[in-house]
Amino acid sequence: VAVPLGLNWRGTSSAGVLLRSGRALPEPYQQPLVIPPVLRPTRTDGTTDYYEITQRVADAELIPGVRTPIWGYNGIFPGPTLVSRSGRRTVVKHRNELPVPAVVHLHGGHTPPEFDGYPIDFILPVGAKDDSAWGGMATHLHGALHQGERQYEYPLDQRAATLWYHDHRMDYTGASVWRGLAGFHLVHDDEEGVLGLPAEGRDLPLMIVDRSFAADGTLQYPALDPTMAKQPGVRNAYASGVLGDAILVNGVLWPYAEVPAVRHRLRLLNASNARRYRLVLDPPPPGGKGFVQIGSDGGLLDRPVTHDAIEFASAERFDVVVDFGRYNPGQRVNLVNELGAGSTRQVMQFRVGAKATDDSRVPDVLSSTPALAPASATVQRDFTFRTGSVGAMTGWLTNGKPFDPHRYDAMPKLGDTEIWQFQSDFHHPIHLHLVQFKVISRNNKEPGVYDAGWKDTVDLKPNEQVQVITRFTGYRGRYVFHCHNLEHEDMAMMANFVTT
Ligand code: C2O
Ligand code: CU
Repeated sequence: VAVPLGLNWRGTSSAGVLLRSGRALPEPYQQPLVIPPVLRPTRTDGTTDYYEITQRVADAELIPGVRTPIWGYNGIFPGPTLVSRSGRRTVVKHRNELPVPAVVHLHGGHTPPEFDGYPIDFILPVGAKDDSAWGGMATHLHGALHQGERQYEYPLDQRAATLWYHDHRMDYTGASVWRGLAGFHLVHDDEEGVLGLPAEGRDLPLMIVDRSFAADGTLQYPALDPTMAKQPGVRNAYASGVLGDAILVNGVLWPYAEVPAVRHRLRLLNASNARRYRLVLDPPPPGGKGFVQIGSDGGLLDRPVTHDAIEFASAERFDVVVDFGRYNPGQRVNLVNELGAGSTRQVMQFRVGAKATDDSRVPDVLSSTPALAPASATVQRDFTFRTGSVGAMTGWLTNGKPFDPHRYDAMPKLGDTEIWQFQSDFHHPIHLHLVQFKVISRNNKEPGVYDAGWKDTVDLKPNEQVQVITRFTGYRGRYVFHCHNLEHEDMAMMANFVTT
């Protein structure tokens, strides 16, 4: 039932926001930001913290007064935040009470292959014996089937960073993440701990997504009708990926946050299926450069970088410090998406409160990580990411081929440094599992202003050629790399590399 304009949840006569579907939503900046709860371990020992998560269908109040069915880790969206200490093993047992198979990937994790969430390593729904009810794909492709639950073991032998976990089922990641299967996993370490960065209530993970709601308030995801999808050309209807017309931060529509007039660390995560953002502070603080970037996907930068805007694609993280002490108490500062229009232009609002003591700081030197010299690279590999057809299938291809779990497109040796070169026809955020890399060139020129630090996802622009350098370390086995536009990923823009 469509809610008529003029009757929003507060019962006032305010117009609110009207979506394409006819669904009316409350005006932006009326609901408080929520920080996802931190999950407590069920037990810990000398080396390991153990957690349990149940994936299930639940009702969420994404729209005030309306129940929206979601798929949630522990029934919530975003899922609970996991917080780990670098080098302490984290073991997460997932139980699947969803109506579909699940796969969990820790994005940015330096994880052994058997726990990385390979797209056909299914956790079957509780009670299911095999995946025949879901097309039998994992069985056919020799994936690993786990009945009802399975344990993922993360060594987390890696730097402090903002990681996140999300579903990764082959061909269905977009639909599953859209329904709510995403959460933060933060890693802390001693190097970061002594810097004096804003912490506790002044360290805010912010998961930004776009979604659409049907008139009845349910999440609206374009159904991939299997008979339609077999017709050539039909998949191109999803060229941009699936875009929503409402913005949520931590599961709240266009929230506001009351912040004392001091420095805050904002861990910006673009968890949208396909939407890119260019975020600015409106108004900017006097003198501009409101964002002090301290970290990227793979943890702290060596030195902070200041920005007027943060532009990022799906799966990228920007760890920034904003000093609200540069504003007057009482000021309202909007986080605005300059790439959006209408309802996708607003993101959230900061309501600046009183001055408070601020003993946080942003040191000039944050970290020092060894550079990888391009001359030390033993191999250069080239990959194109383009749309195309193979037989009756039109989709998004890597080097002209759709995803096949049994085709290996690269076999890097552990310990080796390699340069990978990517070329695109369209925007493709390219993500490598297992490793963090550095961007070394764009179109044979210097990297861009958003390429600083260690990255696991690089925002490839249309017709661009980007080079990244990485060193393969850790574990032997099969991993994927893919476009993180989730509809491109589901339409086959994924490939394997095998570390040997
Ligand atoms: Cu965030 Cu392969 O995924
Ligand atoms: Cu893509």
